[in-house]
Amino acid sequence: MYRTHNCGALRMEHIGQEVKLSGWVQIGRDFGGLTFIDLRDRYGVTQLVFNMEDDAALCEQARKLGREFVISATGLVRERSNKNPNRATGDIEIQVKQLEILNPSKVPPFTIEDDTDGGDDLRMKYRYLDLRRNSVQQNFVFRSKLALETRKYLSDHQFLEIETPFLIKTTPEGARDFVVPSRMNQGQFYALPQSPQTFKQILMVAGMDRYFQIVKCFRDEDLRADRQPEFTQIDCEMAFVDRETVLQTFEGLTKHLFKHTLGIDLPDFPRMNYDEAMRRYGSDKPDLRFDMEFVELTDLAQGKGFPVFDAAELVVGICAEGQAAYSRKQTDELTEWLKRPQIGAKGLVYVKYEADGSVKSSVDKFYSPDDLKAWCERFGAKPGDLLLLLCGEAEKTRKQLNELRLEMARRMGLMKAGDFKPLWVLDFPLLEWDDDSQRFYAMHHPFTAPLPEDAPKMASSDRNELKSIRANAYDIVLNGSEIGGGSIRIHDRDLQFRNFSLLGFTDEEAEAKFGFLLGAFEFGAPPHGGIAFGFDRLCAVMNGQSSIRDFIAFPKNNQGRDMMIDAPSAIDQSQMDELALVVKVKPN
Ligand code: AMO
Repeated sequence: MYRTHNCGALRMEHIGQEVKLSGWVQIGRDFGGLTFIDLRDRYGVTQLVFNMEDDAALCEQARKLGREFVISATGLVRERSNKNPNRATGDIEIQVKQLEILNPSKVPPFTIEDDTDGGDDLRMKYRYLDLRRNSVQQNFVFRSKLALETRKYLSDHQFLEIETPFLIKTTPEGARDFVVPSRMNQGQFYALPQSPQTFKQILMVAGMDRYFQIVKCFRDEDLRADRQPEFTQIDCEMAFVDRETVLQTFEGLTKHLFKHTLGIDLPDFPRMNYDEAMRRYGSDKPDLRFDMEFVELTDLAQGKGFPVFDAAELVVGICAEGQAAYSRKQTDELTEWLKRPQIGAKGLVYVKYEADGSVKSSVDKFYSPDDLKAWCERFGAKPGDLLLLLCGEAEKTRKQLNELRLEMARRMGLMKAGDFKPLWVLDFPLLEWDDDSQRFYAMHHPFTAPLPEDAPKMASSDRNELKSIRANAYDIVLNGSEIGGGSIRIHDRDLQFRNFSLLGFTDEEAEAKFGFLLGAFEFGAPPHGGIAFGFDRLCAVMNGQSSIRDFIAFPKNNQGRDMMIDAPSAIDQSQMDELALVVKVKPN
C-alpha cells in the first residue's frame, strides 16, 4: 500500500517501471520548471522529480513540501541526466505522477544529515530526529548484526540464552547500585543488577553448562565517553572449564564477530600479564596499534648530579619517532599538559636526537653528550627522534607516562581507525589495598578465584602476601579499550567465605548478602568461569569511535539524564506514600 520499493533499492535495471516509494523529505530544490525532492528512508535516498510542464498542480504541491514531511510518491523510474556517483541510487530518479502527504512536519531543530548542525543536548532531546541521520542509523544496523552474529556463534558452541531478573539485590562490580523501592515490602529495596554475575554462577550450579545473555546492566558511577549508567553486556558462563578453554572460546567469538561484520580476519591474540602491561605501558589496557614502549633509565640517569632524577624511584620514558623537531613552545605546552591535575606530573625532561646526530636536552647542564647518547642507545632511538622522560614514584610515574604515550600517539596520528590490535591481559592482582579505607577491594569482583598456585596464600594474614595473590582473571583489550573481562570463579564455599572476609565482610554480612550463593555452593557447584563483553563498547571500538552514546538508541547525558523523556523526575505524592518514601531534597 505504501511502497513497492524502499528508497535505497532502485537501479538502472528498474528504468521504465512504475514504482511507489514512501519516506521523509530530506531536501527540496526548486528550479522553476523542475522541482527535485530527495526522499529518505533507512535504506537510502532517492531523487524525485516534478515537472511543471507535465503537471503544474503536482509541481506546486511538491514545492510546498517541507523538510521531514512524510510522503509517498508514485512514478516512473528513469535514467538521470546528471548522475550522482556518491549515492547508490544516483543513476536514476523518479518522475512523479502522484504524491500523497502522509504527515507534515514542523521544521526540525537541526539538519538531519551526516554532518549535522545540532549540538549534543539538542540532538539528545530530539533523539528520534538524530536517529534519522544515516550515519547514526548505520550504527544500529551494525549493532543488530553484531548481536545476531553473537547469538549464532554462541549457539553453535552450545550456549543457552537465559534471562535473569532485574529486580534483585546487590551484585557488586565496583559501582553504586541503582535501587528500586518495593511497595509490597515497605522500607525494602531491590537493586538493579550491576551484572548478572551471581545468577549466571547459580545457573552453572543448576547444570545449564553454558549460558549467555545480551543483557542490560546498571551502574551508578561517574560517566565518561565509554560509560553509561545502563549499558549492555554479552554475558557468558561455562561449567567444567579452565582458563585456556574460556580464552579460546571468546577469542573465537571475537574473531567470528570481526569476520562476519567487518570482513576482517584477526590473527591470534597476544597475551600479557598485568605486571608486564603495567611495566611496558603503564596501563592494564595498552593500545598496541603503536610502539612507544616504556624504557627505564633509572640506572643511567642517576648519580650525575641532577637532583630530581637522583631522588626518583623511577626514571622512565618513551621515544617519539621522528619528533625531534618539536619546538620549545611545543615541549613547554606538553609539560603544561602533563602538569594538569588530571595527570599530575611534576615536569618533563626531553632529549632531541637531532637529524645531524647531535643531542640536545632540557638537562644539558647535568649530562654530557655521551651520557645522552647512551640514553638514546638504550631507547634504540634514531636521529630525528624525541625522548620524553618522566620520573618519580614508580606506579604513579608509569600511569602519567601512559597518558603521555596516548597523547603523543594522538598527536602523531598513530591511532588509526581500521587498525585492530586485540590482546589478553592476564593475572591481575586478586585484591587491591585502599589506604583511605584501610581495606582490600576485589580488583575484578569478589567471586574471582585466585590462580591455583596462589590459592594457599588466601589463608595468610600478611598484607603484602595477600597483595601478591594473582587472580585467575583476564581482560580482553582492543585498541586501548577494555572490551571485556572475566575470571575462573571460586566454587568452593569455604574459599568464597574466606574471600568475603578478606574483603571486609563480617560473617553475618556475607550470609545476608550472598547466603544464596554460598548455600548453592553446598549442593554440588561445578568448577566454572566466564566473561562479559561490553557490547556498546565493542560496537564503538569496532567502528573506530570512542563514544558509546551513538551506539545506544536512547543514551543518558553526562548527568545521567535522559533528555528526551526528561528522566529522572519527581513522582506523585501518592506514589511516595504507597512506597512509604520521604524525600528530603526538593528536586530543582
Ligand atoms: P566488568 O565489570 O569488567 O565485568 O564488565 C564487563 C565489561 O562491561 C563493559 N562495561 C561498561 N560499558 C559501558 N558502560 C559502563 N558503565 C560499563 N561498565 C563496564 C566493559 C567491561 O569490560 N560480571 C563481570 C564479568 C565476568 O566476570 O564474567 C563484569 O561485569 O567493556
